[in-house]
Amino acid sequence: MTMKHISNLKPEGIQNAGKNEPIPKPIPHGDCSPDCPECGGIGYVRYEVPVGHPKFGKVERCRYAQSRDIAAHLRSDNIDPRIGLTDDEIRNLNWNLVRKGVNQADQAGATTRKAFEDGHGLVFMYGGFGQGKSLILKVAVATAVRAGKRAAYANLAGVLDDIRSAYDERENKMTELVQRMEWWTSLDVLAIDELDKVGQTDWAKERIFQLLDLLYQRAVRQEALTIIAANYQSTDELSGYLKSRIEDNRFAGNGYLIHLKGADGRKSMPKNWKY
Ligand SMILES: Nc1ncnc2c1ncn2[C@@H]1O[C@H](COP(=O)(O)OP(=O)(O)OP(=O)(O)O)[C@@H](O)[C@H]1O
Ligand SMILES: [Mg+2]
Ligand SMILES: [Zn+2]
Repeated sequence: MTMKHISNLKPEGIQNAGKNEPIPKPIPHGDCSPDCPECGGIGYVRYEVPVGHPKFGKVERCRYAQSRDIAAHLRSDNIDPRIGLTDDEIRNLNWNLVRKGVNQADQAGATTRKAFEDGHGLVFMYGGFGQGKSLILKVAVATAVRAGKRAAYANLAGVLDDIRSAYDERENKMTELVQRMEWWTSLDVLAIDELDKVGQTDWAKERIFQLLDLLYQRAVRQEALTIIAANYQSTDELSGYLKSRIEDNRFAGNGYLIHLKGADGRKSMPKNWKY
């Protein structure tokens, strides 16, 4: 897979227009280093890959620009705490940390990674304790943040608390409520953990439905990726509306409905394992 600077992407029209006139050179106006070997300073690259490849037609942040972004992001005092990961997690969590031979997390990780590379969908993982569900959710969010995407990892109860506190405290309750819902439903990647551990009040049920339905709609429109994990043994434990949505053929048909029934990874993780 080779990469091209965006500046090399010459529209045909420009190349053929006015044969005798010199073609003006594009003015570099990027934010990467002018002598960056990958992007030449533009800050973005595109990949020379065949049609159908996940990276086909996509423009991505240059790796050097990306690490500068992350460094700047981590230095700044205003990292949104709703991202839900520590600095160490944002820097270091990656797909290779999900190991083979422990349980089924490696397969679940590979599927989630594919959805991540497509950039949209609804992935639902369910199963018992220590299956690597939370690890996969965090890896996806860390990878997204490093790629400059808007992403967050949270327990569903945490999302609801955030929305509810707006409702309790502020004067303009409705505006604030709408804004907070909007924050959680406008991300590129949202990982929702512990779906099973939330209150069953009418208020909570109504909010959860609204939240998940908005995320489902964005997944259908291929705009965003939502990854959900729950400690369930069967999808029958889900509410009917949610079961129907996660079993949607556009997601389940890609293998995005994942039942993990392997060993509890907590029993075999080495002593120095931080994640
Ligand atoms: N396949 C794996 N590769 C690497 N680490 C793993 C794997 N499976 C589990 N772990 C580790 O085991 C611990 C438990 O995994 P994790 O928290 O992801 O489980 P979970 O499926 O979310 O379980 P629970 O429902 O109990 O929250 C974590 O420290 C995680 O990093
Ligand atoms: Mg977990
Ligand atoms: Zn660069």
